[in-house]
Amino acid sequence: MKDIDLTQLLNKMTLEEKVAQLTQLATPFFKGSNDNGEITGPMKEMGISQSTIENTGSVLGASGALQTKAIQEQHLKDNRLGIPLLFMSDIVHGYETIFPIPLAMGCSWDLPLAEKSAEIAAKEAAVSGIHVTFAPMVDLVRDPRWGRVLETTGEDPYLNSEFSKAQIRGFQGSDLTNDLSRVAACVKHFAAYGAPEGGRDYNTVNMSEREMYEQYLPSYRSALEAGAEMVMSAFNTVDGIPATGNKHLMRNILRKEMGFEGVLISDWGAVKELIPHGVAEDEAEAAFKALQAGIDIEMMTTCYVDHVKDQIEKGMLEESLVDEAVFRILQLKNKLGLFENPYRGADEQLEKETVMSDAHRNVSYELATKSVVLLKNQHHVLPLKQNQKIALIGPFADSGDILGAWSWKGSKADAVTLKNGMLQRIDHSSLTVAKGSQVEASSIDDIAEAVEACKDADIVILALGEDSEMSGEAGSRTNIKLPEAQLNLFSHIKKTGKPIITVLFNGRPLDLTDIHDQSDAILEAWYPGTEGGAAIADVLFGNINPSGKLTMSFPYSSGQIPVYYNHFNTGRPKDAPDAQERYASQYLDSPNKPLYPFGYGLSYTTFSYENMKQSSEAMGAEDTLTFSIEVTNTGELVGDEVVQFYIQDVTGEVVRPLKELKDFKKISLNPGETKEVQFNVREEQLRYYHSDLRYMSDKGKFNAFIGSSSEEVLSLSFQLL
Ligand code: BGC
Repeated sequence: MKDIDLTQLLNKMTLEEKVAQLTQLATPFFKGSNDNGEITGPMKEMGISQSTIENTGSVLGASGALQTKAIQEQHLKDNRLGIPLLFMSDIVHGYETIFPIPLAMGCSWDLPLAEKSAEIAAKEAAVSGIHVTFAPMVDLVRDPRWGRVLETTGEDPYLNSEFSKAQIRGFQGSDLTNDLSRVAACVKHFAAYGAPEGGRDYNTVNMSEREMYEQYLPSYRSALEAGAEMVMSAFNTVDGIPATGNKHLMRNILRKEMGFEGVLISDWGAVKELIPHGVAEDEAEAAFKALQAGIDIEMMTTCYVDHVKDQIEKGMLEESLVDEAVFRILQLKNKLGLFENPYRGADEQLEKETVMSDAHRNVSYELATKSVVLLKNQHHVLPLKQNQKIALIGPFADSGDILGAWSWKGSKADAVTLKNGMLQRIDHSSLTVAKGSQVEASSIDDIAEAVEACKDADIVILALGEDSEMSGEAGSRTNIKLPEAQLNLFSHIKKTGKPIITVLFNGRPLDLTDIHDQSDAILEAWYPGTEGGAAIADVLFGNINPSGKLTMSFPYSSGQIPVYYNHFNTGRPKDAPDAQERYASQYLDSPNKPLYPFGYGLSYTTFSYENMKQSSEAMGAEDTLTFSIEVTNTGELVGDEVVQFYIQDVTGEVVRPLKELKDFKKISLNPGETKEVQFNVREEQLRYYHSDLRYMSDKGKFNAFIGSSSEEVLSLSFQLL
């Protein structure tokens, strides 16, 4: 880091320059971008002055060494004090080499690989001149109607926290200043963005503070502990106050309690959104509230630049609020070495060699093979057998739309489609391909062609799903079934009587009611990324034995939502021995349990769990209790298994979840092989937030569970003394 006196620099800045430093604008505003600073369309209406642009602190969405360098070069000429720009972009699951969506990555339960994928994303982004990624998104999710569930790793606070740390390590490395192939991470969206009412994006979040601490805050906290440089505020309200103007949330919880000292940025336009939210009358009040809450950077609106100077001059706001925000931004620039080298890492030549290299694609392939989840496999129809004649049908049979949301730098044309993946592995004469339907529309002719294509086949693979516009931001849906056109195609194919393997490409747990019983096998491929078709083909052909396990429950139907594994008991549990037939907590028309629970996923082999043991029946606060179990591969193929460890606090001061994931181990077993797997319990793992928000354990009885999913478990009890 250059020995630069940031305080001195800050003192040289005029108030106007300081406020502009707190503004982030999109690429087209900047000279040197492709648009050469010629603003058109809605952005033009923002009416931003040239002097604001010249003093702006950061750029959103620029990419490519050529572009970022050109913008920076021009900016340094125009900026009076030569303060470099920070380039920030959403590099969520890959830059050009696209990895499986985060929800799929969660299903791999593979933390080292998650770290590696973030490292590669950082490497490709850094060489193109990006300094900060708006990732990871670590919001806990329980509602698949919300389109953004695909951007996170699922419904469990512990697992999300582990993935959160792994991604921060991957993006930032251990020496951000000197390792030019890393980028700063911006964890988002603080807080509780993953719990919008009704699953409708941007909607109100309503939960007790205690629940927020227990379920929703751990993954952000873990990111901060792992050293995340930035935090992004959420669009939603938290306890009635939009996060972006929520002083208690930002100043007390995030800064004081969680000790965050980095840069806090609003989400896109969220400062101005304080007006429609109904907590600010106009832009001036929105600026006032956001700055007081501690938002350092206002993304894509101009409430700060238009009003903060005036408010300070009138004595309404302390200038120190601006100073502290600017100082944090300057610190981050300095940490990234931008005062010394404003073009940090950007290199056109290296960019060509690095981006989408074979090595990167290989990691994407590997993660995709580990992320697919085998949901059903009746009569071992999978893996496909040698010499089978296969019909590959459906809108995703030969589609490059398998990258998912936030893959703006990825090219669908670079993605290996399922058809291509399969053709690379088998004799072309054994595969017939027909689309059968579009994602949301089908015609009689298309269906007839697909039915015809199945005629000589021994087995049909139906590649179905949601196009990438159907999920992601602003992609909420009330109906989470497959589109009608595809259900129609399915029913016509079913009539052929051929066995059906359904392969799903989608960004959320779906309601599978209409196809579940009628599919012989179901493989959840998610949006598997650039190498998706190759990875899935290898799973279908049995070159890879699937090992993914769901990290978000699949509901029976949308009427059950939210349905998640770590829920509470009621006073009238349905499965209690003395449960009344009617007056129990249940639906009249649906089971309580999801179709597929958290932690569930099949393999081509089978595993048995036996001999669960504990080192003692009781533990003191200083002790470590050990649980062990023998896991045996009882099938005929080598396989990986995610062995899961859950605990239940049987009686608490407040009600406790029926199970909480505390640890897991991923093991590989040869046919017939047995491994003993151990889990340790320490008192810290038994703590929870009490009604007064104190985080501590209670003495008493606990149940420990080990198993292959949150439902398939063996259990033993112990006492905390
Ligand atoms: C999203 C953020 C994203 C930002 C910048 C917003 O609409 O909510 O997740 O980082 O845009 O692209």
